[in-house]
This record gives sequence, C-alpha cells and structure tokens, in this order.
Amino acid sequence: MKLIEVQSYDEMSKVAAEIMIEQIKTKPNSVLGLATGGTPIGTYQNLIKDFTKNKTSYEKVMTVNLDEYIGLEKDNPQSYSYYMKEQLFNHINIPENQTYLPSAKSVEEEEAGRNYEKLIDSLGGIDLQILGIGENGHIGFNEPGTSFSSPTSIVKLAESTREANARYFTKMEEVPTHAISMGISTIMKSRKIILLVSGVKKAPILNQLFHTDVKEDLPASILKKHPDVTIIADQEALSILKESKGSVYS
Ligand code: PGA
Repeated sequence: MKLIEVQSYDEMSKVAAEIMIEQIKTKPNSVLGLATGGTPIGTYQNLIKDFTKNKTSYEKVMTVNLDEYIGLEKDNPQSYSYYMKEQLFNHINIPENQTYLPSAKSVEEEEAGRNYEKLIDSLGGIDLQILGIGENGHIGFNEPGTSFSSPTSIVKLAESTREANARYFTKMEEVPTHAISMGISTIMKSRKIILLVSGVKKAPILNQLFHTDVKEDLPASILKKHPDVTIIADQEALSILKESKGSVYS
C-alpha cells in the first residue's frame, strides 16, 4: 500500500480527483468504482469543477457503485442512487445508462448480487475503485467478519454502521438494516484502488490497519494483498499512526 499524506480534507479531495481525471484522460472509457458517504463528496466536487472548467468528458466512462441500502426507493434522498445524482452525475456529461448501482428490492433477492457481478464482468472489470473506510474497518458495506472471498451480496449492517449513518436520517428506526454490497473479492479484482481516509474519527482504524495482519475482522486489511492501492490520508486521520512508537507506515 502506498500512502499519500496530505494536510486536510480539501487536499485529499483534490489529489483524489486528480488521480481520477488522469485515469479518464488515459482511458476515456474507464470503468470507475464509486463510493458514497461523507468522505468522497469533496472529490466529486473537484471532478465537477474540473468538468466545468476543462471539459474532461465522461461520455464514455462507466461507473459502478459499491453499495445501496435495501428498502429505500431510488428517489429517496437517503438512497445512494439519489446521492450519486446529487453529488456527481447531474453535474457532468455521463449518460445515465452508464451509471450502475447494485440494487435489491428485498433481502430475499439473492440473484441481485450475482447479476451485479455479471454486469461488472461484462464491462471488463473496474479500472479504478474509490473506497472509504468505516470506523469499524468495513469497505463497501462488508462488515467485520465478512469472508474475504465474498462476492456481491445482501448484507446485514452492523449496529455501529447504522449509528454512524443515522446522521443522514431523522430517526434511527429509519436507517435500513440491510444493504447490497459489492463483495470483498469483487473489490479486490479492481485494477487500481484509492482509499480515502479523513478526520480524527478515522485515526484509530487507520492506525490499526497499518499495525494489523490481514484478517477478516478488519475487512480493509485485505488491501495489503492488492498490488496497486494508494491511501490518501489527512493529518487528522494520521494523528494516532504518526504518534505510535517505531511506526513504519509506508
Ligand atoms: P464516511 O463513510 O465516508 O461517511 O465516513 C465511510 C464508510 O463507512 O465506508
């Protein structure tokens, strides 16, 4: 894993967007794996700024998102489908039919995961995957304990994840209990991965990530086995790691 140390959230967002823009320029029909949550919003804003100013074209780009809640309609403002339109797709020239999110109407719809796998394969696989990390170490909605060989599937959300995401809902009971998530094995097939880590709340898990062995209790630890992972982390996220004695973190 390569670490790019940046000062702030804004710098992280700028650097991540630059890597994505470079990817699109090098391969205009890139398949981008996208993430939701608070972390990538600044990255998307930088992509939009660049699109407005430099007209980087998304006409041939295809996107596949990591995850989606089960039980929310696409037009629900808390759905990730809605988030992606609001935060990115409505502001760039990507055709809507080239943007994909996994989706399942109910927890019984097991074929939804297999269909998403087939879709990603048919697009030729993911060129560049953007990831955030949960405070519990999850990637996508693959919670601690998820098998590293897991394909895209319907998952139960950890209570800590529901609590972390409750800030977007008016009450806790509204936070879905299940989601469909790109699998860990699917994420690992991406040709290149960028992990964005920002803020003091992520400092403990980033520290653990660098000090742990690869283990299913910390899903993000599998990234150590991937040949092309870049972590972009800001000073707040790095605060514990940089304090820890004798730490070699690159
Ligand atoms: P966040 O979520 O970007 O809102 O912190 C990251 C995650 O849970 O994977």
